Order: sequence, then structure tokens, then C-alpha cells
Amino acid sequence: MKVYASYNIKGGVGKTSTAVNLAHLASAEGRRTLLWDLDPQAAATYMFKVKPRVKGGGHGLVTGKRPLEDAIRATDFGDLDLLPADFSYRNLDLELDDAKKRTRRLDQLIGSLPGVYDVVFLDCPPSISLMSENVLHAADTLVVPLVPATLSVRTFEQLKSFVADSDKPRPDLVAFFSMVDRRKRLHGQVVDSIARDGGARVARTEIPALSIIEQMAERQAPVTAFAPRSRAALLYQRLWAEVRAA
Ligand SMILES: Nc1ncnc2c1ncn2[C@@H]1O[C@H](COP(=O)(O)OP(=O)(O)O)[C@@H](O)[C@H]1O
Ligand SMILES: [Mg+2]
Repeated sequence: MKVYASYNIKGGVGKTSTAVNLAHLASAEGRRTLLWDLDPQAAATYMFKVKPRVKGGGHGLVTGKRPLEDAIRATDFGDLDLLPADFSYRNLDLELDDAKKRTRRLDQLIGSLPGVYDVVFLDCPPSISLMSENVLHAADTLVVPLVPATLSVRTFEQLKSFVADSDKPRPDLVAFFSMVDRRKRLHGQVVDSIARDGGARVARTEIPALSIIEQMAERQAPVTAFAPRSRAALLYQRLWAEVRAA
């Protein structure tokens, strides 16, 4: 089982869009896939038309009073299941703080899943917190969307140190440029400069700013499902191929 996390300290950079499409693509290849929406805002849950409700909430899951398995819901896609968000996830940091093995609890929980899953995708809330440390422990690969504004690149540097400083086996880190608007000079400059900086592992595939990606919220489906031959879907396929190979 491979665990991927769509992660960035920042919000609004494309984490959820990435998790939803890549999880859908993984499942479309016949891999049994589980997407866990860890963000109390529940955007990924909404995208799959599932109610953002987990009985017993984050507390029940973290304490082990409620098995993770009971919270899993089916989606419209055969090999793709969803572990929904719940509003109580806003307190997940406090729950984790109370737990034994506070930085490894998420990893343990994922380990307790039924053995049927080939791929687990975590859609993370924007933060750098105890939750994020848990994500570092649990994930094999972090998928990091970067919007090509200077600050977002600085955030990426912070994230790289965060990963490097942590005391555990490091996840692979695959960043990619998200919501790129090549008509903006700054975007072009940042994309070109980081590509030449050998330190960062940045995917060749960029996801441009495309209105069809925004439409996922109205359609309540992955763009790779409702417009499989669109440019957006093609680029997510390329990105998934790069992430999978990392
Ligand atoms: N490549 C893109 N082009 C245009 N809009 C995008 C793109 N990626 C995401 N969006 C939109 O930007 C907003 C934030 O994206 P989202 O994936 O929810 O980011 P995050 O999970 O990091 O907060 C959403 O309204 C989404 O529809
Ligand atoms: Mg999100």
C-alpha cells in the first residue's frame, strides 16, 4: 500500500483538486484507492457527493473508539472509496496531542485499514502543525502544489526544511506548479528559475489555471471523470505518472 498526501502549508493552492483527480486516476487504473479528506472544510468530500459526517468525529477515530473502517463511504467510482471529513476535524491537533504516539497516530490509523487498499490519498488541511508531522510519518510521497508567486516558493523552502528536520524516514517530496498563468510574467520567471534549481524535485508537468478545473465544484466530480479528454485531465494524467514513478 502506498500513501500519498496532497500537502502544502498554504491554502487555495490546489491541494484538494490534486487529491481528487489523482485518487480518481489511481482508481481508474484498477488500484483500490481510499481518499481521506482530513480538512474540516470538507471540499474533497463535497466533490464526491458524500455527507461530511463521521460518527464519533475525529475524537472517535484518534482514540480508536470508532474503527476507521466504519466511516468509509463508497463513491460513484468502483475502486475509489472516501473517508469523509467531519467538522470536528478542526480539533484534530488537540486529539492527536492527547494520543499516545502523538506524531505516529495517523500512520497507525492508516495501518489499521482493511488490507484491500493499494493506494491511500490524504487531502490535508493547510497548516504546519502536529497534524502535519503525522502526515510526514504516514506518507510515502508528499505531493506539493506550488503557485508560482515568490512567497509560495519561500513556503516550499520552509516545507523542505520541515521535512529534512523531522526525525523519521523522509517521504519523497514531489512539488509541481499549480494554477500557472503563463501570461503573467512573474509566473514564467518563477517556474523557469525553480526548474533550474537542482535542489528541489519539481515535476515536469504544470497544471495551468483552467476554468474547467474550477468547474469540479459545480459538477461534484473529478475533471478526469467528467471531461476525461480535456487538457486538464491529460495534464493530471501526466502528473499522476510522474508522482507514481517518484
Ligand atoms: N488549476 C486550476 N485552475 C483554476 N482553478 C483552480 C485550479 N486548481 C484549483 N482551482 C480552484 O482554486 C480553488 C482552491 O483550490 P483547491 O484545490 O481547493 O486548493 P486547496 O485544497 O489547496 O485549498 C478552488 O476554487 C479550485 O476550484
Ligand atoms: Mg483543500
